[in-house]
Amino acid sequence: MLGDAKRRGLRVWVSLGSCFSGQAPAQERVMDLGALRKSYRRDEEAFEEKHLASLNPIKQFSVWFEEAMQCPSIGEVNAMCLATCTRDGKPSARMVLLKGFSQSGFRFFTNLESRKGKELDSNPFASVVFYWEPLNRQVRIEGSVEKLPEEESEQYFRSRPKSSQIGAVVSHQSTVIPDREYLRKKNSELEEQYREVAVPKPPYWGGYILKPDVVEFWQGQTNRLHDRIIFRRLRAGSASTGPMNHKGEGDWVYERLSP
Ligand SMILES: Cc1cc2nc3c(=O)[nH]c(=O)nc-3n(C[C@H](O)[C@H](O)[C@H](O)COP(=O)(O)O)c2cc1C
Repeated sequence: MLGDAKRRGLRVWVSLGSCFSGQAPAQERVMDLGALRKSYRRDEEAFEEKHLASLNPIKQFSVWFEEAMQCPSIGEVNAMCLATCTRDGKPSARMVLLKGFSQSGFRFFTNLESRKGKELDSNPFASVVFYWEPLNRQVRIEGSVEKLPEEESEQYFRSRPKSSQIGAVVSHQSTVIPDREYLRKKNSELEEQYREVAVPKPPYWGGYILKPDVVEFWQGQTNRLHDRIIFRRLRAGSASTGPMNHKGEGDWVYERLSP
């Protein structure tokens, strides 16, 4: 790994550790990634207000999502990083798949008793980020989260391939298990059990909807001027979020953020 790093012009440097614990600071070898740079197209990539396909952020998201789907080098266009938080403010993040979106929000499915499920139970707010690297775009969405109605989770569960349905039943997500063999064994027992019959949706599996209050569209170059246009939903009664915001569709306003 270090040989490869040198070929790419990267360095390894030594830093004084930041954890003191009452003793002399420990030295730590740090992989310096400062020389990792991507070459970008220049100003033609600028994303200006006039390039917004819609003043409704969900419609704008839909246009970018469509463009990402047309991009053959994006493997999983619907993969997003989902951040949740415990009630006392400790965050955690993981990838999940977006399984649908509409004006009311962004839907994903998971084990309701997983770590994210527990965090969402006690603190029903989340943030997701899409990063479509070949397009130099990211979209950040924040809002409150609600469980989807049971019928909607049922319907989606039934549409999944049997192997994924069994995967949802095999073990309780985020719990500790002894080894991989445990999963293999459980999986083949369940395959046998449900060979001729449908797999019922476990009560602890279902969907959530993230209802957006903030949607940010980011495009450009990490090491140059890039563009950030943020939409915020006006709360009932509030006139504006700032002096430079513009009226979007419905209760949305938008403004430009500094990179
Ligand atoms: C690209 C990708 C997509 C994923 N999609 C999902 C998903 O839709 N639902 C899910 O429960 N886990 C999904 N996972 C697994 C999660 O990242 C994670 O391991 C799991 O949900 C447990 O997270 P938690 O312990 O924080 O609750 C996906 C992982 C990757 C890498």
